[in-house]
Amino acid sequence: MIWFWLAVIVLLPTFGLVVFRGAPYVPTRKMYVKQALAELYPISGRDVLVDIGSGDGVVLREASKRGARAIGYEINPILVLISRLLSRKDKNVEVRLADFWLSSLPDDVSVVYVFAVSRDINKIRKMMQNEANRLNREFHLITYGSAFNDLKSIKNVGAYNLYSFKSLHADKAQV
Ligand SMILES: C[S@@+](CC[C@H](N)C(=O)[O-])C[C@H]1O[C@@H](n2cnc3c(N)ncnc32)[C@H](O)[C@@H]1O
Repeated sequence: MIWFWLAVIVLLPTFGLVVFRGAPYVPTRKMYVKQALAELYPISGRDVLVDIGSGDGVVLREASKRGARAIGYEINPILVLISRLLSRKDKNVEVRLADFWLSSLPDDVSVVYVFAVSRDINKIRKMMQNEANRLNREFHLITYGSAFNDLKSIKNVGAYNLYSFKSLHADKAQV
């Protein structure tokens, strides 16, 4: 019984409080990730993928299998530990304990992956545009789940959409 209550005390705040900062932990099914990284955005060794809210790291490992470098930002320390453990033999995978709203994308990012919930979708768009402006170049965004209402995707596969964000230069943010 003590283990049950210990688990409740540790796991409930760790997993529950995340809903105030983003999507709760629901992993993308591996078959869908494979489809996205083949049909939607054929990823390669030239890519640097960033998963904002990387969960157990399934997207990172699938990207790495195709030769890409893969970086995950994850707010839940338990999931950071699990994903580091599951990816321990994988030199292309890095998992950072971080709130992605408070983080910058790495300079060499080429594609960002997000499991998006409708509440956050406009904020994500604004963040991506600001990052494209800051980096002063283009990168792609893969959304799984919610899509942008007023931004046309380049391609769509199932629940996935692919977008491109280009620099609008300095202070001319799109949103
Ligand atoms: C729906 S899950 C998706 C996990 C993984 N990307 C996948 O597709 O399998 C969302 C993840 O984002 C994490 N998360 C939510 N808000 C976050 C934030 N502000 N910063 C970093 N991670 C966050 C959650 O802890 C959770 O693991």
